Amino acid sequence: MILEVDKLQIDYQAKDGVTRAVDGASFVVPEGRIVGLVGESGCGKTTAVRAIMGVLAENGRRAGGRIVFKGQEVDAATTKRLLWRDIAYVPQSAMSSLDPVYTVGAQIVEVLTKRGNANRRDARKRAAELFDLVGLNERRLADYPHQFSGGMRQRAAIAMALALSPSLLLADEPVTALDVIVQRQILDMLRDLQERLHLSMVLVTHDISVVAYLCDEVVVMYAGQVIESGPVREVLARPRHPYTMGLRNAFPDLMTDAMELVPIGGSPPDLRDAPPGCRFAPRCPFVLETCTTGADGHSLANGHMSACRRDGEADLLRKEALDPVTWQRSSSFAAS
Ligand SMILES: Nc1ncnc2c1ncn2[C@@H]1O[C@H](COP(=O)(O)OP(=O)(O)OP(=O)(O)O)[C@@H](O)[C@H]1O
Ligand SMILES: [Mg+2]
Repeated sequence: MILEVDKLQIDYQAKDGVTRAVDGASFVVPEGRIVGLVGESGCGKTTAVRAIMGVLAENGRRAGGRIVFKGQEVDAATTKRLLWRDIAYVPQSAMSSLDPVYTVGAQIVEVLTKRGNANRRDARKRAAELFDLVGLNERRLADYPHQFSGGMRQRAAIAMALALSPSLLLADEPVTALDVIVQRQILDMLRDLQERLHLSMVLVTHDISVVAYLCDEVVVMYAGQVIESGPVREVLARPRHPYTMGLRNAFPDLMTDAMELVPIGGSPPDLRDAPPGCRFAPRCPFVLETCTTGADGHSLANGHMSACRRDGEADLLRKEALDPVTWQRSSSFAAS
């Protein structure tokens, strides 16, 4: 494993209380694999990857858990050393990793000279190589970020992240604002980079069809917790947590029988006041009393983890989850 995240807890302090944005999340990134971190808006994906990078917001802090990179535990001090050289990060908005007042080339050269101790000549040569690697013409190094299209900006941000040849790349929603054709180009490029550079990758997305297209492993987050994880094919073919079953119905590419898209009713809980037991229970069409009272339900088989308390009945629930009527139940709960 190149990265192990164990029972990570991240708190944000605010005037009106503490938000535990990540609450006991555990997952691993096997060497040379692409892991998709997926879940609805606000479930803690960005917080988790920023915590791994040691670049949390001012009011954020690690309240518990361990992060182990290549066998060594990392804390805030060590991540500074690992930053860019070993672990690199492409932030959620590529625009925020690029400075509007400098050319893109100047920014990449800056990373290479300041952090990588390269001389300017080597840095310029390397910048051209990096642009070539991500499919950009090196002439564009002289352009400012606003002269780039969204897809090109995303490529430039990835080139910058790869400047010091990291072994782990964390990419936060790299294709979200792009049209499907450009999405596919960027995802294909990421796969190509992963193979050529033997990278390991965490790809953050809210779109489970992006995970299906690119990732080897998937980690599904809900309300700050990991509720299901495992090999992509296995998890998407046989999801065992109702939230994953619902996510699969809510996105287009994976539908086998050309059914309509079925949204999951309701919305995730307020993290300052999370419900007891399973956090998905208020929206779950299969909720039982034990879901909100009984003990935690983590079960693991062949690398496939599910936190559903009704895991023993997963095969049956999965069949019912294919019926859109099942999800009307969940929206009526959410409304009541
Ligand atoms: N600096 C902050 N201060 C207080 N709360 C925060 C801060 N940053 C994030 N949060 C809260 O933490 C939770 C998780 O946010 P996070 O950005 O990690 O979610 P996300 O899964 O990346 O969402 P999205 O898909 O919208 O990017 C949310 O409830 C959010 O409101
Ligand atoms: Mg985010």
